[in-house]
Amino acid sequence: MNNDMKRYVANIEEYLHECFLSDAPQKVLFEAMRYSLLAGGKRLRPVLTQAFCELCGGKAEQALPFAAAVEMVHTYSLIHDDLPCMDNDDFRRGKPTNHRVYGEAKAILAGDALLTAAFSHLASAQLLTQQVVQAVSVLSQCAGELGMVGGQVLDMDAETRECTEQEVYEIQSRKTGALINAACRLGVIAAGGSQAQQDAAGVYADAVGLAFQIEDDILDVVGDAQKLGKAVGVDGKKNTFVRLYGVAECRRMIASETDKAVSALSGFDAPQFLTELARSLVSRDR
Ligand code: IPE
Ligand code: IPE
Ligand code: MG
Ligand code: MG
Ligand code: MG
Repeated sequence: MNNDMKRYVANIEEYLHECFLSDAPQKVLFEAMRYSLLAGGKRLRPVLTQAFCELCGGKAEQALPFAAAVEMVHTYSLIHDDLPCMDNDDFRRGKPTNHRVYGEAKAILAGDALLTAAFSHLASAQLLTQQVVQAVSVLSQCAGELGMVGGQVLDMDAETRECTEQEVYEIQSRKTGALINAACRLGVIAAGGSQAQQDAAGVYADAVGLAFQIEDDILDVVGDAQKLGKAVGVDGKKNTFVRLYGVAECRRMIASETDKAVSALSGFDAPQFLTELARSLVSRDR
């Protein structure tokens, strides 16, 4: 891990550790929220938010409320994704899934509360009103019925039939791509960057998001559950990229998406960190 990566991860860990500490009567809800939020994910999305903010001339710290908001939405999506009515998984981030510890009802509610809290963290950013409003608009669109939630519905509905290539892309671009897209664009917004910079961040994000989900599908087949912190071999009924193309072709696709991501950064002054980050995802094992 290079120094920028360490700094971005430390920043977000520190920020999140201060969240949802409470002695309120419903403190079990706070515990359930912290259980999943602080379980040690890779923090890819909040790293992207901070890195794009610095790429556009801001400081990582000014992007932290936005970065945390994306990680809260992502964590809620994982809690719900693991529920018995969805992917029915028992392990996540190296620990028993939220519903295995707190029960289904509280896991659903912990997800609901994380989603809601994300927007209050956006609102708390010490930035111009127009930046906060734009961030709310981007995150809600990327998280909602046209974004991640929409993708999860398509993913579930596709379990009982075989999808076309077009449909598999559609599912991934929503269920995984949309939040990565929000993470990158929120970094540009936090820095007060231009629309052109936001568009370039979106192109980078869409390529990285596609490569990331293809790798997630590959890791379900060839990955190590211990390293991944979640079970492998659970995508049997799913319409994954591996099912469509096989592992070897998937690896070529990842390389080509990574090149696209890197090219999208050509208009920026010092894109080394984000270039290396995209390249490092090619060989990730977690
Ligand atoms: C897992 O996301 C779900 C997908 C969208 C593929 P991550 O692989 O980023 O999970 P964490 O945050 O590191 O746990
Ligand atoms: C997850 O896709 C996308 C989400 C919105 C959580 P997966 O179902 O493939 O993610 P994992 O493999 O359980 O992390
Ligand atoms: Mg799923
Ligand atoms: Mg899943
Ligand atoms: Mg998966």
